[in-house]
Amino acid sequence: MKVVAIVGSIRKDSYNLQLAKHVQKRYADKFELEILDLASLPMYNQDIELDATQEVLDFKAKVKEADAVLWVTPEYNSTIPGVLGNAIDWLSRVDQVMHGKPSIIMGSSMGILGSVKAQMHLRDILFAGGLNSPVFGGNEVYVGTVHEKFDTEGNLTDEATNAFLDDVIAKFQEWVKPYIKQYA
Ligand code: FNR
Repeated sequence: MKVVAIVGSIRKDSYNLQLAKHVQKRYADKFELEILDLASLPMYNQDIELDATQEVLDFKAKVKEADAVLWVTPEYNSTIPGVLGNAIDWLSRVDQVMHGKPSIIMGSSMGILGSVKAQMHLRDILFAGGLNSPVFGGNEVYVGTVHEKFDTEGNLTDEATNAFLDDVIAKFQEWVKPYIKQYA
């Protein structure tokens, strides 16, 4: 199974990026995870959507080829960050590469709620017509007080979180099978 990760923070030391990298490493024997670059995407503009930059075309092609998408997002002002909204706007138009593609959502924040509001909004957006992506339900991964859970080398050292992630990933692997052509 090939999965792409879309991370809602382009900050160099982003905890959400660290979380995506942790999933990439910890479950490397279960699926291949490629973390996509959002920083190079221009601001979505309907005037240029039919003449998009190579970065947009490459980004959309990678999503199109993937069996599933892992969304890892912080919460900005009680919702998803603009950088994530921008990526979603590109994905929702022209060839609509998310249609029918399964998604799983995770996220983290330094506060205790672990990006819960952003994740709830993201779930709604993914279900809506422009994306029409089936989203793995239950098993929500809200990593609160994230700065206390990673060490300085970027390892997620919180054992309870790792045990929970192991369970979520195992369930996700079962859930996602019917959506993936190679298993059909
Ligand atoms: C935040 N942060 C934040 N946290 C939260 O729990 N709820 C929120 O609404 C917000 N809003 C918010 C807005 C803006 C503009 C910033 C910069 C930050 C804090 C946020 O969770 C924290 O900075 C995370 O560490 C950001 O994620 P990354 O960049 O570490 O992945």
